[in-house]
Amino acid sequence: METIEIEVFRYQPEKGSDPAFQTYEIPLNKDWVILDALNHIKDHIDGSLSFRWSCRMGVCGSCGMVVNGKPVLTCATFLEKFAPGPVRIEPLDNFPVVRDLVIEMSDFLDKLQKVKPWIIREEEGSTEEEYLQTPSQLADYKQYSMCINCMLCYSACPVYGLEPGFTGPAALALAQRYNMDSRDQGNRDRMEALSDDTGMWQCTFVGDCSAVCPKNVDPAGAIQRYKVEGATHWWKTLLLPYGKDR
Ligand code: SF4
Ligand code: FES
Repeated sequence: METIEIEVFRYQPEKGSDPAFQTYEIPLNKDWVILDALNHIKDHIDGSLSFRWSCRMGVCGSCGMVVNGKPVLTCATFLEKFAPGPVRIEPLDNFPVVRDLVIEMSDFLDKLQKVKPWIIREEEGSTEEEYLQTPSQLADYKQYSMCINCMLCYSACPVYGLEPGFTGPAALALAQRYNMDSRDQGNRDRMEALSDDTGMWQCTFVGDCSAVCPKNVDPAGAIQRYKVEGATHWWKTLLLPYGKDR
């Protein structure tokens, strides 16, 4: 049977060892995705290998890794594409590594809070009442609601790599998802939180985030739209009385 070499990043802090690559030779099964290759290693060769996954169908967002230099969902990337090998598998860039291919993502979870990713109403309506929405109002923000928090965009983002305080692509796209929702009235709250030097203005529109996004969320496009709104907001605060837009 044809085989392929897989070089896997290993880091086991409990053993006090330095990070290193370990090479495994596995069958080149044409039906396998990269995640199947990792599961083969774990089940048949080396049970100590750690990595995250859950759904195996591009929905949970937990299997993101860097494969031959590019951040991908390993459940959606065929192994055969990398034949004859070797295939190098590493944890996502720009995040601390907990063990092997597992990253620590609490920084992103803190940033999510900052963008207030929920519907904000100036006055709460009755719980009996529905906020109706037309199909075209839904279409306005639907693309930005498809994010699965896979962190590929943070791994690809050179600004986040240099400035870890940057709110980052997925969180900013999510802010825009709620801003564009016809039921939401929280744009001003979010704008104040995201106009500082960790928010949208740090994005230099490299566009790598959108290039790697497996769900076509286009975070780079969302951030540019947000910048236009931010500039308008700034002019309004300058020109309108009391420094408030209304
Ligand atoms: S915007 Fe795309 S790449 Fe970024 S976390 Fe969401 S789904 Fe993943
Ligand atoms: S395992 Fe869920 S997205 Fe890959």
